[in-house]
Amino acid sequence: MSTMSQQKAWMVKSKGGDHEIIMRDIPKPHHGEMLIKVCSAALNPIDWRAQDYGFMVEEFPAVLGMDAAGEVMEVGDGVRDFKKGDRVLTHGRYDKENDHACFQQYMLCKADFTATIPSKFAHEKHAFDSAATIPLGFNTASVGLFGRDLGAGLTPPWKDRSKYRNRPMMIMGGATSVGCYTIQLARYAGFSPIMCTASMENEKYLKDLGAHHVFDRDMSAEDLKMAVRKHTKDPIRVVFDTVSRRETQEAGWNLLADDGLLIVTLEPKVEPGSGDRREVVSTRGSPHIGQNKDFSKETWSQLSDWLKNERIMPNRFEVQHGGLNGIEDGLDMLRDERVSAKKLVVHPQETS
Ligand SMILES: NC(=O)c1ccc[n+]([C@@H]2O[C@H](COP(=O)([O-])OP(=O)(O)OC[C@H]3O[C@@H](n4cnc5c(N)ncnc54)[C@H](OP(=O)(O)O)[C@@H]3O)[C@@H](O)[C@H]2O)c1
Repeated sequence: MSTMSQQKAWMVKSKGGDHEIIMRDIPKPHHGEMLIKVCSAALNPIDWRAQDYGFMVEEFPAVLGMDAAGEVMEVGDGVRDFKKGDRVLTHGRYDKENDHACFQQYMLCKADFTATIPSKFAHEKHAFDSAATIPLGFNTASVGLFGRDLGAGLTPPWKDRSKYRNRPMMIMGGATSVGCYTIQLARYAGFSPIMCTASMENEKYLKDLGAHHVFDRDMSAEDLKMAVRKHTKDPIRVVFDTVSRRETQEAGWNLLADDGLLIVTLEPKVEPGSGDRREVVSTRGSPHIGQNKDFSKETWSQLSDWLKNERIMPNRFEVQHGGLNGIEDGLDMLRDERVSAKKLVVHPQETS
């Protein structure tokens, strides 16, 4: 059992510190959990923010990583819908014990925030890579749009598909991971036209996902407003700023109707003035936090079907080679904004 009782993990030693590949015990699943062999883990901007600033990290040394896909190795008590050998995607989290993070060869996952990869894709060559691109981006898009406490509280399309038909939606940053899932959920909810900003080389990809109009991300706020007005005269009540820099928030705020809502993924940089009826909400994508749990259980229970019907398409991806050793370069690429319209993924099992 010696080969199976220990595993390799990518661990950050201290806030702002270096990482090392360490050996650690393979944990046992608790009630409602499973042990997963991580075949593919995707990188997110939060991982470098966690490494550099300790963002979302309870304690160092810390294993990071929130997105994973792999194979169920062991099922804990109380888990009904999964069995050993299932191929799944799951939403990890950083925890003190380091057991639920994804940058390691085996992790624990909550069954509630795990979905099976539909059998029609499960044995395709890159099934795990595609599946690993989904969890955090998708969850942030869905909570941002439909979450009651940490989102816009819109009616989800699986409850009513008629409510937002022919209402415009603006997405600042259509080509971010969150943006690509927001476009698809906005399409599902019937919004039209769905408009977004991006680099123009991503126009076709974003239109394939469901965007109706793509505007150059470098346009000034005023030019953007004029361009948007050519496509809709209707009030824009929802702007989802997936980039959430000061300038994108201000440009999005500038497009909003008098009673509109701006959803941001980082700290709000705009503030309603007195008498202003516009609002801003800062969303949080993790399904593990109290306010998101019930809603996220609802979405995760449907995710496998949405993937099967291609209602939700995973992000594009690029593999960083070297197993867990590929993470540091990948995080540098995210830090330097050298990644466009795709996720970077690693294969922890290939770590030398
Ligand atoms: N609050 C939360 O729980 C939460 C969850 C997830 C993410 N986030 C945050 O949300 C942000 C997006 O995360 P992500 O993983 O979706 O990002 P990502 O996929 O890594 O974003 C990369 C994309 O950003 C786009 N972009 C950069 N600057 C832009 C601008 N000025 N205008 C339009 N597009 C721009 C680029 O689009 P082009 O290639 O088209 O230029 C690029 O494709 C990050 O800051 C992340 O930390 C927060």
